Amino acid sequence: MHLLDSVSVLAFILSAVEANSGYAPEKVSCPSDASFVREANALSSQESEWLDKRHTQTQPALKEFLTRAGISDFDIEDFFDDASSNITIGLAFSGGGYRAMLNGAGQLSALDSNTRNANELGLGGICQSSTYLVGSSGGNWLTGSIALNDWIGIEDLVYHDEGDGVWDLNNSIFDEGGWNVIETISRFTSIAKELAAKKDAGFETSITDLWGRLLSYQFFGSDNDASTALTFSSIKETDAFQNALVPFPISVADGRVPGSEIINLNSTLFEFNPFELGSWDYSLKAFTDLKYVGTPVNNGRPTSDYCIKGYDNAGFVLGSSSSLFNELLLDLKDNSATAILYELIEDFLTFTDNENVDVAIWNNNPFYNTSYGDSETVLKSNSLYLVDGGEDGEVIPFAPLLQSERELDIIFGFDSTADSEYLLPNGDSLVATYERQFLNLTDSNAFPYVPDTNTFLEKGLTSRPTFFGCNGSNLTELSRIPPLIVYVPNIPYTYLSNTSTFKMQYSNSEKYAMVQNGFEISSRKNLTLDSDWQKCIGCAVIQRELERTGQSQPNECKECFDRYCWDGSLTTNS
Ligand SMILES: *[C@@H]1O[C@H](CO)[C@@H](O)[C@H](O)[C@H]1NC(C)=O
Ligand SMILES: *[C@@H]1O[C@H](CO)[C@@H](O)[C@H](O)[C@H]1NC(C)=O
Ligand SMILES: *[C@@H]1O[C@H](CO)[C@@H](O)[C@H](O)[C@H]1NC(C)=O
Ligand SMILES: *[C@@H]1O[C@H](CO)[C@@H](O)[C@H](O)[C@H]1NC(C)=O
Ligand SMILES: *[C@@H]1O[C@H](CO)[C@@H](O)[C@H](O)[C@H]1NC(C)=O
Ligand SMILES: *[C@@H]1O[C@H](CO)[C@@H](O)[C@H](O)[C@H]1NC(C)=O
Ligand SMILES: *[C@@H]1O[C@H](CO)[C@@H](O)[C@H](O)[C@H]1NC(C)=O
Ligand SMILES: *[C@@H]1O[C@H](CO)[C@@H](O)[C@H](O)[C@H]1NC(C)=O
Ligand SMILES: *[C@@H]1O[C@H](CO)[C@@H](O)[C@H](O)[C@H]1NC(C)=O
Repeated sequence: MHLLDSVSVLAFILSAVEANSGYAPEKVSCPSDASFVREANALSSQESEWLDKRHTQTQPALKEFLTRAGISDFDIEDFFDDASSNITIGLAFSGGGYRAMLNGAGQLSALDSNTRNANELGLGGICQSSTYLVGSSGGNWLTGSIALNDWIGIEDLVYHDEGDGVWDLNNSIFDEGGWNVIETISRFTSIAKELAAKKDAGFETSITDLWGRLLSYQFFGSDNDASTALTFSSIKETDAFQNALVPFPISVADGRVPGSEIINLNSTLFEFNPFELGSWDYSLKAFTDLKYVGTPVNNGRPTSDYCIKGYDNAGFVLGSSSSLFNELLLDLKDNSATAILYELIEDFLTFTDNENVDVAIWNNNPFYNTSYGDSETVLKSNSLYLVDGGEDGEVIPFAPLLQSERELDIIFGFDSTADSEYLLPNGDSLVATYERQFLNLTDSNAFPYVPDTNTFLEKGLTSRPTFFGCNGSNLTELSRIPPLIVYVPNIPYTYLSNTSTFKMQYSNSEKYAMVQNGFEISSRKNLTLDSDWQKCIGCAVIQRELERTGQSQPNECKECFDRYCWDGSLTTNS
């Protein structure tokens, strides 16, 4: 179908719209003696204080989970009374577009006591026991949708017809109105105004601004112009976060200067958390206050008499983490039905060549002329350039959780990548993270030994969950003992959940089926494939603490480890 193809109609629409300033960052007065950047040599004091509160939530929740799991010959009270530290659990959700988002929603729901049947049939309580929640690209659409909708429950996100569900994927994000052409044009018009306002305020805009706005309409509801002024740093103001009732959310993106390539995993890995933006890598080794990103600074100090607030727009953060999808937006101009949409936005695009269309421009560079890192390209540039968090091959965002300062015991890595010939995972992302630790790019980011992708596939390590780094005594040659990894690959049980990364429309029934299959992945098909699954997860969770305190492993845990740990062997042709 052709949209209205008259230029005068377009001109009319544009003239009829008032500039919408909600999206544009605003000038505010600076905090006194403002200095926004710190060296990345410890956790921020805010994160440390927050952790003190979170531990008082997670440890009782874990006790409850372990009670349900019922490991024999294991005294839960003694374990916690004699604990050497708080058990720290992280959840990491991979990229992979809506496939990853929907699989992830089901996988996470099986870990959440608030989900119907999760305590009885799944791993309910693990979410309540977790300290960190990390997402990359499509995985970040999941974690971001939750945190930025004031910690909405997964069932409320998903079940559109049976309540006020948020995720409506029936129409493509590029064509939200579906048959209603006027609605689609009106949405693009609103977005054009929002981008115009940011540009008028003196900031460079890129296709990621458009992408981020579209994501916002999809994930933050179309009321109130899809929360045009919602920021990522506002998460820290939600009650649930302030009372540490929820895990600490982190979003990842990679640094990539236009024209350069990410090779040998040598890019700078950035993280956004409710307090800060920055990187632990030697190339930057600094964090800045996320709330004031956009302020013109030199070595972290404002160079003007004002500061900027509102630059860390929530959709823009999600868009930067998933900028791989920007290329789909370029297709709009080549399609006569949608060319008019492209006209609406083309004035705001800085990079429109295929090589750089994925680059999100963060200008001003908050790290300009800082002195902690050694990458000239990051430290001397006026803008910070960020791309999709999966572009370095580490599609499961483990990196923020491998920092020794965060003291993780265990990380659940949910893998919805599609690197095998059947659009299923092949372990590639784990291999990339394993290899990065030897490149001396950052401190102490140890990761357990993993096999090559042939072994992953041939030994069936992707056809059920697999544990890596089970025996800490085996890992002493790494830079430190890494967390134990519970690897949870995408497996089609009751639905072919290996859909294409670029499938942009899901009917409600497809959406529900993906999410249910995700629940079945995390729960080992509602415990039917292994009635001891809760026990085995309990065993994985307590393992590092048992090792630290020199306690022996309960016998049931030995059986679990025989079943789920990679035994260190490779296939013959590896
Ligand atoms: C757990 O964390 C709390 C809050 O930070 C702290 O008071 C307590 O000592 C920690 N427990 C252990 C065993 O380290
Ligand atoms: C979903 O999309 C299809 C095809 O685009 C359309 O026929 C159908 O009416 C839509 N359903 C709803 C509930 O919007
Ligand atoms: C990464 O390595 C490639 C190849 O050596 C190089 O072209 C590129 O500039 C490097 N990127 C960074 C950020 O150092
Ligand atoms: C960078 O910062 C240093 C120290 O803060 C300052 O002396 C120097 O002039 C700055 N360089 C530039 C190019 O702004
Ligand atoms: C999805 O996985 C199944 C195997 O579980 C396979 O038969 C099918 O071909 C895969 N689909 C695609 C699109 O590769
Ligand atoms: C690793 O890199 C850091 C920072 O660039 C450097 O100080 C250190 O000497 C390097 N270590 C090794 C073993 O190369
Ligand atoms: C762990 O590894 C150490 C060193 O290889 C070995 O002595 C020990 O028996 C292993 N423990 C288990 C439970 O396999
Ligand atoms: C697993 O449990 C969920 C939630 O109760 C249910 O919707 C689903 O049908 C069950 N799946 C199987 C294979 O029994
Ligand atoms: C760990 O050590 C045990 C012996 O204790 C050995 O059988 C096993 O293969 C080792 N695992 C790995 C991953 O190296």
